[in-house]
Amino acid sequence: MALNLAEPALLRTQNLIDDQWRDAGLGARLSVSDPATGEAFASVPDSDAGDARLAVDAAAAAFPAWSRRTARERAQLIKRWHALILQHQEDLARIISTEQGKPLKEARGEVQYGASYVEWFAEEATRICGDIVAEAVPGRKLLVLKEPVGVVAGITPWNFPLAMIARKIAPALAAGCTVVAKPAEDTPLTALALAWLAQQAGIPAGVLNMVTASREHTPGVVDAWLLDSRVRKITFTGSTPVGKHLARESAATLKKLSLELGGNAPFIVFEDADLDAAVDGLMASKFRNGGQTCVCPNRVYVHEAVHDDFVERLAQRVGALHVGPATEEAAQIGPMINARAVDKIARHVEDAVARGARVVTGGKRVRTEDGPHYYAPTVLVDATPAMELSCEETFGPVAPIFRFRDEAEVIRDANDTPFGLAAYFYSNDTRRIWRVAQALETGMVGINEGAIAAEAAPFGGVKESGYGREGSRHGLDDYMHTKYLCQGQLG
Ligand code: SIN
Repeated sequence: MALNLAEPALLRTQNLIDDQWRDAGLGARLSVSDPATGEAFASVPDSDAGDARLAVDAAAAAFPAWSRRTARERAQLIKRWHALILQHQEDLARIISTEQGKPLKEARGEVQYGASYVEWFAEEATRICGDIVAEAVPGRKLLVLKEPVGVVAGITPWNFPLAMIARKIAPALAAGCTVVAKPAEDTPLTALALAWLAQQAGIPAGVLNMVTASREHTPGVVDAWLLDSRVRKITFTGSTPVGKHLARESAATLKKLSLELGGNAPFIVFEDADLDAAVDGLMASKFRNGGQTCVCPNRVYVHEAVHDDFVERLAQRVGALHVGPATEEAAQIGPMINARAVDKIARHVEDAVARGARVVTGGKRVRTEDGPHYYAPTVLVDATPAMELSCEETFGPVAPIFRFRDEAEVIRDANDTPFGLAAYFYSNDTRRIWRVAQALETGMVGINEGAIAAEAAPFGGVKESGYGREGSRHGLDDYMHTKYLCQGQLG
């Protein structure tokens, strides 16, 4: 498959360590495949612990000079990186679509979305400030400084190959940290292209290092970072089991952690909701990226009084979605990322049907002539808590509808999960809005809104969806520690 990039140099197929593009020490390679067909179209280094340690050597050596630069100097370099990302947005979108399967229109949106975090954190860099505290004893000054934590390891998922890594690297660099990063094995090319743009922007040697690795070699790379006391923070987006592993294993060196983990988002439509707005919100939040999003609604609760009307309106919209190859302009739902992903979706639907759910639209694999990883956008009714899709993220274009009778019951069901990333609800009753928003046990709540993420907002979860925030001023704070200075003998 030809990528046909306007800037061919964006296709990087080596690690970036200490400003050098290098192969893995042992020369191993990892294939990058088209998600529609599973056919390999490029390869990158399959790195191991040795490469991971070299990356930390570079990041640790670069840290003193980078952290001592003024905030304005760091901000200017990050802004240059931002400008280059926008300049190359069409090529970056093409790389995202090709390796991840997201329709081109959405991939262009992802470039804008990821770039917005880069710009935001460039601006926030110049607003880092501490405190001067009123002295309790005469002749003393009490000062509170914010300092960068040091070397940060970023580990990112495949569903947003650009935005997820950008929103980890940008705040780290803005705070004065240096970075070692590992993108997901399915989507390394977008991350390497971003690293090349950072290099073109003038980010100094060793400040940003990137290594790629297969699923088999990833534990070796990550363990090298977990064990290395020079790595002071790990920032991870991915599954809850991996997040728990990182929390356990980083305890030996007590690293700071940001964990953006799995979700099982409820989407509630109350009887007083504007149904058209609710359908629009569900289409935006559920079918974005083919449903492969941590904040996607996984359980849709609809009040019995509006249930049939809502389902009819939703099914019409879902049935009209165009499934097709990601790089086809008309595509609205591309292929799922790989065979495991599409098998899980099919398993969830089969299990739901076997337990009494009914398929209103979709419910099967489609376009099999174009590849084995396409799944039809699906609406199911009569979903119940006994079904697998009620307890586990489906991570695909499937909207299961649960019927409910009253507010207390739906809040209880919505919260009946170990996860707490996002929740959504639609209602036009102001008192209910405040009651429900406070009762939902999640880090983020969309109220009459399905698209909630933004660079100025704190993105993150509670319960087993993790801790730490990305975006907003809180997103920068996560890369700094607080130092207290007490100066005496002044009186
Ligand atoms: C995610 O799926 O983890 C991120 C989605 C987003 O940024 O909206």
